[in-house]
Amino acid sequence: MSRELVLGIESSCDETAAAVVDAGRRILSSRVHSQAEMHAVYGGVVPEIAGRSHLSKILPVVDGALADARIELDDLAAIAVTTRPGLIGSLLVGLSAAKGLAFARGLPLVGVHHIEAHVYAATMEAESFEYPCLALVVSGGHSSVYRANGPLDLVLLGTTLDDAAGEAFDKVAHLLGLGYPGGPAVSKLAESGNPRAIELPRYKSKRTDAPEFSFSGIKTAMLYQVRGQDARAALPPPESIPNRADLAASFEQAVCDVLVGECVRAAEREGLDTILVAGGVACNRRLRAEMTTRAAARGLRALFPSPAYCTDNAVMIAGLGWHAWKSGTSPGLALEAAPR
Ligand code: KG4
Ligand code: ZN
Repeated sequence: MSRELVLGIESSCDETAAAVVDAGRRILSSRVHSQAEMHAVYGGVVPEIAGRSHLSKILPVVDGALADARIELDDLAAIAVTTRPGLIGSLLVGLSAAKGLAFARGLPLVGVHHIEAHVYAATMEAESFEYPCLALVVSGGHSSVYRANGPLDLVLLGTTLDDAAGEAFDKVAHLLGLGYPGGPAVSKLAESGNPRAIELPRYKSKRTDAPEFSFSGIKTAMLYQVRGQDARAALPPPESIPNRADLAASFEQAVCDVLVGECVRAAEREGLDTILVAGGVACNRRLRAEMTTRAAARGLRALFPSPAYCTDNAVMIAGLGWHAWKSGTSPGLALEAAPR
């Protein structure tokens, strides 16, 4: 059996990752080194710390991914690396490592768009699946809906007017005295809360031609719930917030209602019967359940990556990288990184 092994390298934000994937689908290995703990004390990603940490981890992580896959560099067909979007200092670490390895071994080098890779992740584990479909990317930096015509052909349909969904989770986590990253912590607390306990506003887009989100109204309502209306008042200590779990669950429900409503509407408008959901927030259990049932009620299918491939990883880079390599359009060692 011939193999077409691609090594994927990802370092766009605060995860240093490497993976080996065969022919865009079969996952041989996946290593992720998360910097979350290093950034937690600052309540968000510090670019200088991220860049330096990538530098010290990139080669051990790549070595680990090759060892786990039981292969050597010379077994590879190509190397794929995230070139955009992301923190420029972080992207450059992955790109430089990938260029060095590709040059040393005479391997083809392809650049991958981080968001396209998140979307591709949702297709990798599906037994049957066909383009075109709708794709929702919900992460710390993005809340966007695309029409996916193919793995490398995404057309932006709509996006958020303000915060990204993950950003809203992170800010609400701060209000509730939970750590960073906030999504998993809010989600855990929400499990013991009542999602209907607290009334929160849902953004209703007036657009009939494209999806549109907004999370600032929900966020402000949460602030008033926790702190009261007095802008000079300090945030109360977490233990004195009596209904924290209900607040977390109601917030999560409100965000899900907005995301699911807009996606189902957009899929029907575009005549698409599958909704791919990707990015860190796609780990969220309530979102997975709500999207699945409400899509099914309209005869649509929702597809998600396994949680490990929702957050930043290199499996999605190696997977989509195989398609990019096959398309034969990469500038190779002339590749450049770009923050946007
Ligand atoms: O895709 P990702 O790992 O990084 C970016 O490219 O942004 O997404 C990270 C985001 C963070 O905002 C984090 O709070 C959120 O995904 N997140 C979650 C959950 N797990 C991670 N949000 C809600 N529920 C979760 N279970
Ligand atoms: Zn991401």
